[in-house]
Amino acid sequence: MRILKRPKEMRSAVEEWRAGGLTVGLVPTMGALHGGHLSLIRAARDGCDRVAASIFVNPTQFGRGEDYDTYARPFERDVSLLEEEVCDALFAPGVEAMYGGTSLELSPDGERVYVEAGWLGGVWEGEARPGHMRGVATVVAMLFNIARPHRAYFGEKDYQQLKLIERMERNLFFGVEIVACPTERDPDGLAISSRNANLSPQEREAALALPHALRAAQDLAASGEHDAGTLVAAMKRVCEDESLVELRYAAVVDAETLAPLETVEKPARALISANVGGTHLIDNVAL
Ligand code: PAJ
Repeated sequence: MRILKRPKEMRSAVEEWRAGGLTVGLVPTMGALHGGHLSLIRAARDGCDRVAASIFVNPTQFGRGEDYDTYARPFERDVSLLEEEVCDALFAPGVEAMYGGTSLELSPDGERVYVEAGWLGGVWEGEARPGHMRGVATVVAMLFNIARPHRAYFGEKDYQQLKLIERMERNLFFGVEIVACPTERDPDGLAISSRNANLSPQEREAALALPHALRAAQDLAASGEHDAGTLVAAMKRVCEDESLVELRYAAVVDAETLAPLETVEKPARALISANVGGTHLIDNVAL
């Protein structure tokens, strides 16, 4: 696997492949790779001739007081995992190569151009994390422009992020096919996340309230309950039973726009977000 640190090197590696008529899949990540990330690599492997992953802990999507500094960066381990999956290139730039500065000011004069996330930037995860979705949209646009992949792979685990990136791709005509991959879960149902490592054994147990709440909503919907308020109330009840779970929101939304629904009659998604002992967890399912 080639490890490329500079945008120019990454761009020419992909250009070489493209010139040879090969299709290229990109898997953007922030590292600390786990089964969820590796499932995206495998999907890219199945769908493309060449697979490139990126590892970049993107400072512009972290707010003040969030875990940017403490975010795990087990680089050597990530490299071996990618090599085991057979990844062709890893783009692993430093902050300076991407933003031209080493501090959170991110540019010598403090000025930069961002991709505005619009309504999706301010709701759900965007409400609790102002600027987060804008930072995600901006860095993904940068990665698309640097790597120019044919396809890019994202997890449904971060459903709002996935819908934002699909919308950005359409609105800004990137010409990259966005491939959505299902959420990988531990055997007990907890969605795999780098942040799960921060949970104590009791918190890990309590965190199961998230998939359980989503399952309750799914079961009710499957049994014919169409009232979104009833589904949301069921999700909240499951979380109220767990004192370690501080619910941020439980919602039933349009699967495309993420606008809240009153009744479930078109494709819908149940979203949930909670703090479990100070660890921020999210999950979602189709209804
Ligand atoms: P990160 O949290 O590292 O996730 C990288 C990709 O892995 C995302 O598309 C995410 O949805 C997917 N993923 C994470 N957990 C998953 C799981 N359990 N099952 C399936 N897919 C999973 O998301 C980001 O990084 C960043 O915001 C990024 C898009 C790289 C921009 O900085």
